[in-house]
Amino acid sequence: MPEILSNGSDASSLLSQVRGGTLEAISNADMTYQLKDRSLFIEDAFIGGEWTTKEKTFEVWEPASATVLGKVANCDQDDFRKAIQSAFDAQPKFFESTTGTARGVMLRKWNDLILANQEDIALILCLENGKTLAEAKGEVAYAASFISWFAEEATRSYGVTIPSSYPNTSLSTIREPIGVCGIITPWNFPAAMITRKIAPALAAGCSVVIKPPSETPYTCLALTKLAIEAGLPPATIQVCPTKDRQAALELSTNPQVRKISFTGSTNVGKMLAGLAAKTLKRVSLELGGNAPVIVFDDADIDVAVEGVMFSKFRCSGQTCVCANRIYVQSGILKAFTERLVARVAQLKMGSGLDPTTTQGPLVNKAAVTKISEHISDALSKGAKVEFGGISKDDGKEKGFFCPPTVLSGVTAKMVVANDESFGPLAPIFEFGSEEEVLRLANDTEFGLAGYFFTRDIGKAHRVARRLEVGMVGVNTGKISAAEAPFGGVKESGYGREGSLYGMEEYQTIKSITVSTV
Ligand code: SIN
Repeated sequence: MPEILSNGSDASSLLSQVRGGTLEAISNADMTYQLKDRSLFIEDAFIGGEWTTKEKTFEVWEPASATVLGKVANCDQDDFRKAIQSAFDAQPKFFESTTGTARGVMLRKWNDLILANQEDIALILCLENGKTLAEAKGEVAYAASFISWFAEEATRSYGVTIPSSYPNTSLSTIREPIGVCGIITPWNFPAAMITRKIAPALAAGCSVVIKPPSETPYTCLALTKLAIEAGLPPATIQVCPTKDRQAALELSTNPQVRKISFTGSTNVGKMLAGLAAKTLKRVSLELGGNAPVIVFDDADIDVAVEGVMFSKFRCSGQTCVCANRIYVQSGILKAFTERLVARVAQLKMGSGLDPTTTQGPLVNKAAVTKISEHISDALSKGAKVEFGGISKDDGKEKGFFCPPTVLSGVTAKMVVANDESFGPLAPIFEFGSEEEVLRLANDTEFGLAGYFFTRDIGKAHRVARRLEVGMVGVNTGKISAAEAPFGGVKESGYGREGSLYGMEEYQTIKSITVSTV
């Protein structure tokens, strides 16, 4: 948990302004932010179809001011058990009483309500996560796009007919919901990571128990309120915010939960998969990345720079698909580095609420410390700061800010080559040949995303096939969309989200053999 950084504010007086359902506005040390619909700022859990106030709460921080934004219900194991039981009881009724079309209609309505409240949700998201208001609005639209996508997919849950080898026999399949799904999501996309999981689950006819990220629970609670308003039966969605990891483990051990979908670190993913194996739950894991970006000599340098800017600095570098290692071929190294530095110099760090800001703070102080350690390690082994750099005071004053930084002369021996920075650090490695760079790019236990830039069509197809990742961007840094399968290989996890594959993660296939005599 981040420690309080001194900025002269009195956290307890802020709390009295922001607590509870009587909230008029969200306040931090400096400002009060008005919501159009104040009822969207919720601090309760949602269990058994009811908003549930808890005596025990945990603090949620605003990264831009390093102050407390509010206090949210801290669910215990008993709350998780109640939520799971209620979801378990509700699920068969939900599936049996609704057609795919009816579930699609509810999801479509939820999508519409989210978009109608885009400004308020974006404000909540911006305050608790730190990303810029423009990015937050973009994330709300991105989150809604998964709901509208799966509203359509709900109506297209096909089975097949199979020629039987037995005489006078018809054989076919139907898809059924897997049951209660435990949903565990990260703070970097407080809206989109929830909807990317629960929209397909609900479309399939499952019920869900969500453990939202403790850093950013407010967005999830606001989305839940709108889901219920959209007509989704209350007990099909349960939300248990908590800081108590042990309590949340109930999701992976309780036999009534049939599926776990987790986005987060590889270590936690492995631990959850191990626990879930005891009751043979289906598991989807979207875990850490260490994305390579390869810029070949024949690339359009401006296109490559823009691709790197998007893939590296989106959400201040805090995405699993962010460029972590930038390999540039010797012939264009100097030109590429100069142009990247010129673009990074245009970034503006600050509070996400300031419309001129392009880079919000990192999520907490530990995130700033990690970048600082990556930079120090690289410099001690011969890298050079081309732009930015971090001083010992970064992250110690108001807000968890970390300057966008470009390093050159980075090599495989440096920590940044093997460890996901999860921040605005762009390390440039030089390479000579295609063979060499593919060996370097694949030399990691991770395999989530990879990008490269070339104008050679043969190379484009060859390198795309040889990169050991789940998602490839060729001449682009933008690979995420509702229709694109999202997921990794190796220790970046398994399962695919979004796309035509996303709903089957929440379904089982039943075969039906009918004797026709
Ligand atoms: C993530 O960082 O896990 C999600 C990024 C995305 O959806 O683009």
